[in-house]
Amino acid sequence: MIDKQALHSLDKRQRTALVNSLPGFKPVVLVGSVNDDRRTNLCVINSCFHVGADPALMGMIIRPAPEGTERHTLENILATKTYSVSAVTRAMAQRAHHTSARFDRDQSEFDACGFVEQWHENFPAPYVSESPLQLGLRLAEHLPLSINGTHLIIGSIEQIHLSKNAQRADGSLNLQAMDIVAGVGLDAYHSVSTAQRFSYAKPDKPPELI
Ligand SMILES: Cc1cc2nc3c(=O)[nH]c(=O)nc-3n(C[C@H](O)[C@H](O)[C@H](O)COP(=O)(O)O)c2cc1C
Repeated sequence: MIDKQALHSLDKRQRTALVNSLPGFKPVVLVGSVNDDRRTNLCVINSCFHVGADPALMGMIIRPAPEGTERHTLENILATKTYSVSAVTRAMAQRAHHTSARFDRDQSEFDACGFVEQWHENFPAPYVSESPLQLGLRLAEHLPLSINGTHLIIGSIEQIHLSKNAQRADGSLNLQAMDIVAGVGLDAYHSVSTAQRFSYAKPDKPPELI
Protein backbone atom coordinates (compact mmCIF):
# COMPACT_ATOMS: atom_id res chain seq x y z
CA MET A 1 0.00 0.00 0.00
CA ILE A 2 1.18 3.51 -0.78
CA ASP A 3 -0.52 5.86 1.64
CA LYS A 4 -0.77 9.64 1.30
CA GLN A 5 2.35 10.14 3.42
CA ALA A 6 4.39 7.65 1.35
CA LEU A 7 3.14 9.25 -1.86
CA HIS A 8 4.20 12.64 -0.61
CA SER A 9 7.67 11.31 0.29
CA LEU A 10 8.32 9.87 -3.19
CA ASP A 11 10.80 11.50 -5.51
CA LYS A 12 8.85 14.19 -7.45
CA ARG A 13 9.31 12.53 -10.87
CA GLN A 14 8.28 9.12 -9.51
CA ARG A 15 5.22 10.60 -7.83
CA THR A 16 4.15 12.48 -10.95
CA ALA A 17 4.63 9.41 -13.17
CA LEU A 18 2.65 7.25 -10.76
CA VAL A 19 -0.23 9.66 -10.21
CA ASN A 20 -0.48 10.52 -13.91
CA SER A 21 -0.94 6.81 -14.70
CA LEU A 22 -3.71 6.27 -12.12
CA PRO A 23 -6.69 7.35 -14.25
CA GLY A 24 -5.82 4.61 -16.79
CA PHE A 25 -6.36 4.95 -20.53
CA LYS A 26 -7.48 8.43 -21.51
CA PRO A 27 -8.32 10.28 -24.71
CA VAL A 28 -5.43 12.09 -26.35
CA VAL A 29 -6.41 15.03 -28.52
CA LEU A 30 -4.87 18.04 -30.19
CA VAL A 31 -6.41 21.36 -29.22
CA GLY A 32 -6.20 23.93 -32.01
CA SER A 33 -6.64 27.61 -31.30
CA VAL A 34 -5.78 31.03 -32.65
CA ASN A 35 -5.01 34.37 -31.02
CA ASP A 36 -6.41 37.78 -31.87
CA ASP A 37 -3.55 38.28 -34.37
CA ARG A 38 -4.57 35.03 -36.16
CA ARG A 39 -1.46 33.14 -34.98
CA THR A 40 -2.32 29.47 -34.66
CA ASN A 41 -1.47 27.16 -31.78
CA LEU A 42 -1.73 23.42 -31.25
CA CYS A 43 -1.23 21.43 -28.06
CA VAL A 44 -1.72 17.85 -26.93
CA ILE A 45 -4.20 17.33 -24.08
CA ASN A 46 -5.24 14.16 -22.25
CA SER A 47 -7.78 15.60 -19.82
CA CYS A 48 -10.73 15.77 -22.22
CA PHE A 49 -13.96 14.36 -20.83
CA HIS A 50 -17.66 14.07 -21.57
CA VAL A 51 -19.84 16.57 -19.67
CA GLY A 52 -23.22 15.98 -21.29
CA ALA A 53 -24.88 14.78 -24.50
CA ASP A 54 -27.78 17.24 -24.79
CA PRO A 55 -26.57 19.92 -25.02
CA ALA A 56 -23.34 18.29 -26.26
CA LEU A 57 -20.58 19.46 -23.90
CA MET A 58 -16.94 18.49 -23.42
CA GLY A 59 -14.60 19.53 -20.65
CA MET A 60 -10.85 19.66 -20.21
CA ILE A 61 -8.38 20.76 -17.56
CA ILE A 62 -5.63 23.23 -18.39
CA ARG A 63 -2.79 23.42 -15.92
CA PRO A 64 -1.44 26.79 -14.80
CA ALA A 65 1.72 28.05 -16.47
CA PRO A 66 4.82 27.44 -14.33
CA GLU A 67 6.65 30.61 -13.26
CA GLY A 68 8.10 32.43 -16.26
CA THR A 69 6.16 30.46 -18.90
CA GLU A 70 2.93 31.01 -20.83
CA ARG A 71 -0.18 28.97 -21.59
CA HIS A 72 -1.00 29.81 -25.17
CA THR A 73 -4.01 27.47 -25.50
CA LEU A 74 -5.73 28.89 -22.42
CA GLU A 75 -5.02 32.50 -23.44
CA ASN A 76 -6.34 31.88 -26.95
CA ILE A 77 -9.52 30.14 -25.78
CA LEU A 78 -10.29 32.91 -23.31
CA ALA A 79 -9.64 35.54 -26.00
CA THR A 80 -11.49 34.00 -28.98
CA LYS A 81 -13.98 31.73 -27.12
CA THR A 82 -13.47 28.98 -29.71
CA TYR A 83 -11.14 26.00 -30.18
CA SER A 84 -10.93 22.73 -32.03
CA VAL A 85 -10.33 19.22 -30.72
CA SER A 86 -8.79 16.75 -33.18
CA ALA A 87 -8.36 13.06 -32.29
CA VAL A 88 -4.84 11.59 -32.51
CA THR A 89 -4.13 8.46 -34.60
CA ARG A 90 -1.14 6.16 -34.30
CA ALA A 91 0.47 7.85 -37.31
CA MET A 92 0.08 11.26 -35.63
CA ALA A 93 1.22 10.30 -32.10
CA GLN A 94 4.91 11.23 -32.30
CA ARG A 95 4.16 14.63 -33.84
CA ALA A 96 1.29 15.18 -31.39
CA HIS A 97 3.68 14.53 -28.49
CA HIS A 98 6.07 17.12 -29.93
CA THR A 99 3.38 19.82 -29.52
CA SER A 100 3.80 19.58 -25.73
CA ALA A 101 7.23 21.24 -26.02
CA ARG A 102 7.46 24.88 -24.96
CA PHE A 103 7.33 26.65 -28.30
CA ASP A 104 7.49 30.43 -28.50
CA ARG A 105 4.22 32.28 -28.87
CA ASP A 106 5.04 33.26 -32.47
CA GLN A 107 5.95 29.72 -33.55
CA SER A 108 2.93 27.65 -34.57
CA GLU A 109 3.08 23.99 -33.49
CA PHE A 110 1.26 23.17 -36.74
CA ASP A 111 4.41 24.08 -38.69
CA ALA A 112 6.94 23.05 -36.05
CA CYS A 113 5.45 19.55 -35.56
CA GLY A 114 4.40 18.75 -39.11
CA PHE A 115 0.62 19.22 -39.11
CA VAL A 116 -1.48 20.99 -41.72
CA GLU A 117 -4.08 23.52 -40.65
CA GLN A 118 -7.61 22.99 -41.90
CA TRP A 119 -10.24 25.73 -41.73
CA HIS A 120 -13.90 24.81 -41.86
CA GLU A 121 -16.68 27.22 -42.81
CA ASN A 122 -18.16 29.35 -40.05
CA PHE A 123 -15.52 28.39 -37.53
CA PRO A 124 -12.62 30.61 -36.49
CA ALA A 125 -10.25 27.98 -34.98
CA PRO A 126 -7.91 25.69 -37.00
CA TYR A 127 -8.36 21.91 -37.15
CA VAL A 128 -5.69 19.26 -37.81
CA SER A 129 -6.36 18.24 -41.41
CA GLU A 130 -5.27 14.60 -41.15
CA SER A 131 -7.33 13.82 -38.04
CA PRO A 132 -10.31 11.54 -38.80
CA LEU A 133 -12.39 13.05 -35.96
CA GLN A 134 -12.50 16.82 -35.54
CA LEU A 135 -14.71 18.84 -33.20
CA GLY A 136 -15.31 22.58 -33.12
CA LEU A 137 -16.11 23.97 -29.67
CA ARG A 138 -17.30 27.25 -28.26
CA LEU A 139 -16.30 28.18 -24.72
CA ALA A 140 -19.40 27.64 -22.56
CA GLU A 141 -17.96 27.84 -19.04
CA HIS A 142 -14.56 28.63 -17.49
CA LEU A 143 -13.89 27.79 -13.88
CA PRO A 144 -10.51 28.50 -12.30
CA LEU A 145 -10.16 25.75 -9.65
CA SER A 146 -8.85 27.12 -6.37
CA ILE A 147 -7.77 23.66 -5.17
CA ASN A 148 -4.71 23.53 -7.46
CA GLY A 149 -4.79 26.56 -9.76
CA THR A 150 -5.92 24.58 -12.83
CA HIS A 151 -8.65 25.79 -15.18
CA LEU A 152 -11.77 23.81 -16.04
CA ILE A 153 -12.83 24.64 -19.58
CA ILE A 154 -16.22 23.44 -20.79
CA GLY A 155 -17.02 23.76 -24.47
CA SER A 156 -20.25 23.29 -26.39
CA ILE A 157 -19.84 21.18 -29.50
CA GLU A 158 -20.65 23.35 -32.53
CA GLN A 159 -19.26 21.17 -35.35
CA ILE A 160 -18.36 17.50 -35.82
CA HIS A 161 -16.27 16.42 -38.81
CA LEU A 162 -15.93 12.66 -39.33
CA SER A 163 -14.01 10.57 -41.82
CA LYS A 164 -16.03 8.19 -44.03
CA ASN A 165 -16.99 4.87 -42.40
CA ALA A 166 -16.24 6.26 -38.91
CA GLN A 167 -19.80 5.90 -37.69
CA ARG A 168 -21.73 2.70 -36.97
CA ALA A 169 -25.40 2.29 -37.90
CA ASP A 170 -26.41 2.94 -34.26
CA GLY A 171 -24.70 6.35 -34.29
CA SER A 172 -21.63 5.43 -32.20
CA LEU A 173 -18.11 5.85 -33.53
CA ASN A 174 -15.68 3.07 -34.34
CA LEU A 175 -12.54 4.66 -32.92
CA GLN A 176 -10.49 1.51 -33.45
CA ALA A 177 -11.21 1.57 -37.20
CA MET A 178 -9.92 5.16 -37.26
CA ASP A 179 -6.71 3.99 -35.49
CA ILE A 180 -7.25 6.55 -32.70
CA VAL A 181 -4.87 6.03 -29.77
CA ALA A 182 -5.46 6.10 -26.00
CA GLY A 183 -2.95 7.75 -23.66
CA VAL A 184 -1.46 6.79 -20.32
CA GLY A 185 0.39 9.39 -18.31
CA LEU A 186 2.33 11.94 -20.31
CA ASP A 187 4.35 9.70 -22.60
CA ALA A 188 2.45 6.56 -23.67
CA TYR A 189 0.17 6.33 -26.72
CA HIS A 190 -1.57 2.95 -26.99
CA SER A 191 -3.29 1.32 -29.92
CA VAL A 192 -6.57 -0.24 -28.84
CA SER A 193 -7.91 -3.68 -29.70
CA THR A 194 -11.49 -4.78 -30.40
CA ALA A 195 -14.11 -3.64 -27.88
CA GLN A 196 -16.65 -5.84 -26.12
CA ARG A 197 -19.99 -4.00 -26.56
CA PHE A 198 -22.99 -4.77 -24.37
CA SER A 199 -26.74 -4.13 -24.46
CA TYR A 200 -28.30 -1.49 -22.16
CA ALA A 201 -27.91 -2.80 -18.58
CA LYS A 202 -31.05 -3.77 -16.66
CA PRO A 203 -31.26 -5.13 -13.10
CA ASP A 204 -32.97 -8.47 -13.96
CA LYS A 205 -30.41 -10.04 -16.36
CA PRO A 206 -26.77 -9.83 -17.33
CA PRO A 207 -26.15 -7.55 -20.34
CA GLU A 208 -25.80 -9.30 -23.72
CA LEU A 209 -22.89 -8.95 -26.12
CA ILE A 210 -23.93 -6.91 -29.17
C1 LIG B 1 0.29 13.29 -23.35
C2 LIG B 1 0.20 14.70 -22.83
C3 LIG B 1 -0.98 15.15 -22.29
C4 LIG B 1 -1.12 16.46 -21.80
N1 LIG B 1 -2.30 16.85 -21.26
C5 LIG B 1 -2.42 18.10 -20.77
C6 LIG B 1 -3.65 18.53 -20.18
O1 LIG B 1 -4.63 17.79 -20.12
N2 LIG B 1 -3.70 19.80 -19.68
C7 LIG B 1 -2.63 20.66 -19.75
O2 LIG B 1 -2.75 21.79 -19.28
N3 LIG B 1 -1.46 20.29 -20.31
C8 LIG B 1 -1.33 19.03 -20.82
N4 LIG B 1 -0.16 18.64 -21.39
C9 LIG B 1 0.94 19.61 -21.49
C10 LIG B 1 0.77 20.56 -22.69
O3 LIG B 1 0.72 19.82 -23.91
C11 LIG B 1 1.97 21.53 -22.74
O4 LIG B 1 2.03 22.25 -21.54
C12 LIG B 1 1.93 22.48 -23.92
O5 LIG B 1 3.21 23.07 -24.04
C13 LIG B 1 0.93 23.59 -23.78
O6 LIG B 1 1.01 24.34 -24.95
P1 LIG B 1 0.49 25.83 -25.10
O7 LIG B 1 1.31 26.73 -24.22
O8 LIG B 1 0.67 26.10 -26.55
O9 LIG B 1 -0.93 25.83 -24.70
C14 LIG B 1 -0.01 17.34 -21.87
C15 LIG B 1 1.20 16.87 -22.41
C16 LIG B 1 1.30 15.57 -22.88
C17 LIG B 1 2.62 15.10 -23.46
